[in-house]
Amino acid sequence: MPHLRTVGLYKTYWLDEIKIQSLIDINLSIEQGEFVAIKGPSGSGKSTLLHLLGCIDTPTMGNVFIKDINVSTMKANALRELRLRELGFVFQHFYLLPVLTAQENIELPMKEAGLPKAQRKQRTMELLDAVGLRERANHMPGQLSGGEQQRIAIARALANNPSIILADEPTGELDSASGRTILELLLKINREYGKTIIVVTHDDSLARQATRIIKLHDGRIVSDVR
Ligand SMILES: Nc1ncnc2c1ncn2[C@@H]1O[C@H](COP(=O)(O)OP(=O)(O)OP(=O)(O)O)[C@@H](O)[C@H]1O
Ligand SMILES: [Mg+2]
Repeated sequence: MPHLRTVGLYKTYWLDEIKIQSLIDINLSIEQGEFVAIKGPSGSGKSTLLHLLGCIDTPTMGNVFIKDINVSTMKANALRELRLRELGFVFQHFYLLPVLTAQENIELPMKEAGLPKAQRKQRTMELLDAVGLRERANHMPGQLSGGEQQRIAIARALANNPSIILADEPTGELDSASGRTILELLLKINREYGKTIIVVTHDDSLARQATRIIKLHDGRIVSDVR
């Protein structure tokens, strides 16, 4: 059973009278444990695809299956639970809440999932260790470097132990040394924790480490190489 699958996926936007075909007939099957890099020029549909795979947006046509469940048939609550427990997101601009400490940011998805406080605290400390930032637990995002903020964002993405991590240009804002640290972390999450990783990236050093590279152009898959 593929971990993630799409069948005939289309996403169309209308701006006034102009039709924008952001994704055209995307058929993909991704197995558990794959590390997939998605590449392509600006506007080729990379982020749109990631949002559909992550169930944070819906296709105009076609279907997304996660562990063989057609997500379009799921009720809102079930879908929310699926997003919370199976999918972790990492974004280019980190999106940490600026008024919460590093630790509180990591805890947030566990609170959402209803994990008791003692377990939340323990899991947060484990995650801070995993990303090498335990001593920064009580710092605010504004007191952390970009690379450190992204490590906290990765810890947050892992909070509820999801099986899939989706990342949209996670090293896009970072200098090359911080970018390397993020890459190492993603590799660890893939190889040691066995998570499926799908990462949109312009960063060749990151894409080289992927086990599969999918290229998009004008909303279509133009190459898919393992
Ligand atoms: N909400 C929207 N409304 C209208 N058009 C949109 C919307 N979101 C994306 N698009 C269009 O869909 C196409 C694909 O956009 P997308 O953001 O997926 O590209 P991308 O490959 O991620 O580009 P980048 O590398 O610049 O991030 C673009 O033409 C974009 O303008
Ligand atoms: Mg994008």
